[in-house]
Amino acid sequence: MERKWWKEGVVYQIYPRSFNDSNGDGIGDLPGIIEKLDYLKELGVDIIWLCPVYKSPNDDNGYDISDYYDIMDEFGTMEDMDKLIEGVHKRGMKLIMDLVVNHTSDEHPWFQESKSSKDNPYRDFYIWRKGKNDGPPNNWGSAFSGSAWEYDEKTGEYYLHLFSKKQPDLNWENPRVREEVYKMMRWWLDKGIDGFRMDVINMISKVKGLPDGKVYPGAKYGDGSPYYLNGPRVHDYLQEMNREVLSKYDVMTVGETPGVTPEIARKYVGYDRNELNMVFQFELMGIDCGLSKWDKKDWKLTEFKRIFNRWYEGLKEKGWNSLYMNNHDQPRMVPRFGNDKEYRVESAKLLATLLHTFPGTPYIYQGEEIGMTNVAFDSIEDYRDIETLNWYREQIEEGRTEAEVMEAIHWASRDNARTPMQWDDSPHAGFTTGTPWVKVNPNYKDINVAKARKDQDSIFHYYRRLIQLRKENPVIVYGDYRPILEDDEKLFSYLRTLNEDGEESRLLVILNFSEEEVKFKLPEGIGYSDKKILIGNYPVGLQKDLSNLTLKPYEALVYQLI
Ligand code: GLC
Ligand code: CA
Repeated sequence: MERKWWKEGVVYQIYPRSFNDSNGDGIGDLPGIIEKLDYLKELGVDIIWLCPVYKSPNDDNGYDISDYYDIMDEFGTMEDMDKLIEGVHKRGMKLIMDLVVNHTSDEHPWFQESKSSKDNPYRDFYIWRKGKNDGPPNNWGSAFSGSAWEYDEKTGEYYLHLFSKKQPDLNWENPRVREEVYKMMRWWLDKGIDGFRMDVINMISKVKGLPDGKVYPGAKYGDGSPYYLNGPRVHDYLQEMNREVLSKYDVMTVGETPGVTPEIARKYVGYDRNELNMVFQFELMGIDCGLSKWDKKDWKLTEFKRIFNRWYEGLKEKGWNSLYMNNHDQPRMVPRFGNDKEYRVESAKLLATLLHTFPGTPYIYQGEEIGMTNVAFDSIEDYRDIETLNWYREQIEEGRTEAEVMEAIHWASRDNARTPMQWDDSPHAGFTTGTPWVKVNPNYKDINVAKARKDQDSIFHYYRRLIQLRKENPVIVYGDYRPILEDDEKLFSYLRTLNEDGEESRLLVILNFSEEEVKFKLPEGIGYSDKKILIGNYPVGLQKDLSNLTLKPYEALVYQLI
């Protein structure tokens, strides 16, 4: 298998607004990130992914860009950005940026031009259509509630926005749009960044005619996703982007691709496809969702494992996997897949063990390394996320009770991941000396970086050791994977094997995803003459016998089999 830095590295995702505020205005910023680079180096991560820092009116916290060549005022200046790139590189790390090109801000000059008249040269940079029967051109809903179309008085037409109405979709059919995007990408790569995380990149090609979507029971709008996810020309565009830009640099790319199966993913990340290196799949994120993300349902470990296994099998030898369990759009992973009460520390370490020993590149979301949890603000007033606020308004209008709606928000709101990073136990968790743009999670006195660094048994030090382990054991990166005990509802267990220069190295991973003690017995046929424990989340005794193990609640064990 071809060796690559982006297969070996561990990625750390920064949501700049909530990471570290250097000047007391309550908003995280670039100088704040620079202050924490040594912290990230200590953790041991190799690649930093920076969520958008471009100029933006912040309707969707930077995912609405008004100038791709400038930095958001609140975050600092281009000089700060240059210093950040330099600081990251000086420490031997890499920096990738978010590339948000399915849409821009409505305040981007292209859109300002585009809406100014029907014959403006920029008109065709966006997707404009005439209305139908006194309404929008089709029945699609936006991801942030309401119609995906906004009427513009001046020219009497509608424009498409799959997200907020301040995020008009670019028209990728227009070669001038694509040229502008490639030019901008080159500009950043020439500046020295090491790649891109591509925002909803599988939405850039829409089916011609923009047909109405199916209206599901209880829904107000049609589901347009079959007509904009993995659209007819998306692979042409990405291959063109690769030819024009990416192939000329040693960079890494990861596409955010909702609704992608392993079969579809192969088209994006296949080694022979010249498109992207990795994609973020959403199957795991959907495991506990009913009709929508707000609708919580139970999940089973066998299904959880099936998703991991299917993605491994689907991309095996053909492409590369990304591994993540939370990010700035998702609730925190510990309450979701672990236990945020009695076993917060154990289950955070358990999930981390999976993330760092499964085949693929691990992505850590800020705060995950100290086991940050969800937040439950009593009042909608304390929420900031546009998706949450729009959904709240819509649900209340439709007659659902406040209590019901808030319960769903406590579980699924994106603000769960966006509360400020908890650095220490001083006011506002040391995030800011001012008033934070969104409140800090009240549990910061107990859960914070300063405390975690002092405690050798903390989640933080466990992450540090896992990252180290990955560097010392190529089998974790390049080894084969074989699931064992696939039908077990409590244990997730697997073997990793690598044959290198005539030598075989083997890892056995055993994870107890339950609150109970569980017996483990190594299946027949997996021989070994000796074993060594590499890491575990409980103090590990010597008596552990693989043919008769008892795992404690949420216990994780990684052995080297000799
Ligand atoms: C992606 C981003 C999300 C954003 C949306 C629109 O899903 O991760 O934060 O709101 O795209 O840009
Ligand atoms: Ca600030």
